[in-house]
Amino acid sequence: MLEKFVDELPIIDEILPIRSYHQAPFYEVTMRETYQKLHRDLPPTKVWGYNGQYPGPTFHVQRNQTVHVLWKNELPKKHFLPIDTTVHGAGNDVPEVRTVVHLHGGITPDTSDGYPEAWFTNGFQEVGPYFTHQLYTYPNRQQGTTLWYHDHAVGITRLNIYAGLAGMYIIHDPAETYLNLPKAPYDLPLLIQDRSFNPDGSLYYPSQPNPPVPNVNPSVVPEFLGDTVLVNGKVWPFMNVEPRRYRFRILNGSNARIYRLSLSNGLSFIQIGTDQGLLEQPILVPELLLAPAERADVIIDFSNGFQQSIVMENNPEPPFPPGDPNPEGPVMEFRVNKPLTCPDTSSIPAHLAAIPKLLTYQKNRNLLLNMRPDPYGREIHLLDNRVWADSVSEIPSLGNTEIWTLINISNATHPIHLHLVQFQIVDRQPFDADIYKKDGRIVPTGPRTLPDLNERGWKDTVRANPHEITRIIMTFGPYPGLFVWHCHILEHEDYEMMRPYYIVGHGDRYIVPL
Ligand code: C2O
Ligand code: CU
Ligand code: CU
Repeated sequence: MLEKFVDELPIIDEILPIRSYHQAPFYEVTMRETYQKLHRDLPPTKVWGYNGQYPGPTFHVQRNQTVHVLWKNELPKKHFLPIDTTVHGAGNDVPEVRTVVHLHGGITPDTSDGYPEAWFTNGFQEVGPYFTHQLYTYPNRQQGTTLWYHDHAVGITRLNIYAGLAGMYIIHDPAETYLNLPKAPYDLPLLIQDRSFNPDGSLYYPSQPNPPVPNVNPSVVPEFLGDTVLVNGKVWPFMNVEPRRYRFRILNGSNARIYRLSLSNGLSFIQIGTDQGLLEQPILVPELLLAPAERADVIIDFSNGFQQSIVMENNPEPPFPPGDPNPEGPVMEFRVNKPLTCPDTSSIPAHLAAIPKLLTYQKNRNLLLNMRPDPYGREIHLLDNRVWADSVSEIPSLGNTEIWTLINISNATHPIHLHLVQFQIVDRQPFDADIYKKDGRIVPTGPRTLPDLNERGWKDTVRANPHEITRIIMTFGPYPGLFVWHCHILEHEDYEMMRPYYIVGHGDRYIVPL
């Protein structure tokens, strides 16, 4: 058992552009393997990092300022985690190590969005020469918020992100300057991820039959749940803070774990923003629910806590998932022991941003979240009963507003994420999943409820709870093209809970492939 609160929280460093290109900042990021100390008592752990560091360096960009990033792959030829060649698109005819970078929450044309099959690799492989890099352009035409970038290669995303390929990307917005929120160095990201380790310090990830042995316990790797929690790349770290307000941009970057965060001294988080930007007003949140890929922009006010130790804890509601080695417990510690370097003049304004409500729409789509055995007899989660390789079925028109009605008849919460668009949660409603499975009738078992107060802003990932109908509304655009939507539990995403969707542009007719 590793000791808690012995390593200081790392402040992830900022990446700077190396030059300008077409009057825009140009960055270069190389994926490399490296060894990193993740805990005082662990030998250095092999990780894959953007620019050879885990987590990757943090981008700080300005709203409306286009940037270019050259993503390069200098990873080894072989994966160090157990791969499974039976997953979609991941057979023996594709390189084992393949990468593609997605800016999660970025409003990005499809050519720079990191389509799962647009992967590149580390050069020449057994089956042919491949590109080793990709130049992506991010327009950043969206309100200030906290995004993250991570790997998205088909069939292998869960392993690449687990290996360390994730980092933060913050869009700064001039509209925020007048709000007088806490600023750097009192404004920092907290990237939360769970991991398990072998005694030699290496990352543990369960292996799977590969290829599966016929008639012998066919199984996919279930949702990965680790026995330790890392923040910014250290196991259970501590942070020395001043008695003042801090702004933390919290990201759940875990493969599958859903956290319910609280502070040990009973203090509430003051949530000011969600996935896609500021909320209308600050919300007091005693317990902060975050599913994989969700972000919360929060203020923690330590001003009355001098000499206190405040632990941020994970306290989910039972029942815990079977086999979870660390269902509840600490995440990190704040030690309010630093003297004030200067008076805290920040404020938390009562009004933060205007969020126009989307009301009228052109189309509703009912989409099922269900389970089905795959060709190996393994139970897998699906979106609307289709697998990744099925032809495109969600084909909205550019500029149209749609409601997607997510009907979850499975027994799991699925954080559903759409690329490109920002959405609003309309409501949730419980229904009888057994009747639905029998004859497809939707019989509600309770009233429609509005989203939580801290979900009433722009989102890109929504928790679709089991046996509930979750409705979201969004306008498709501003770019036409091919994107994806998927569950952000990475094991679900890799095992078929991901689908392409196509936005038809003006004067563009999408031909459904045979
Ligand atoms: Cu965070 Cu499709 O991804
Ligand atoms: Cu995304
Ligand atoms: Cu899922």
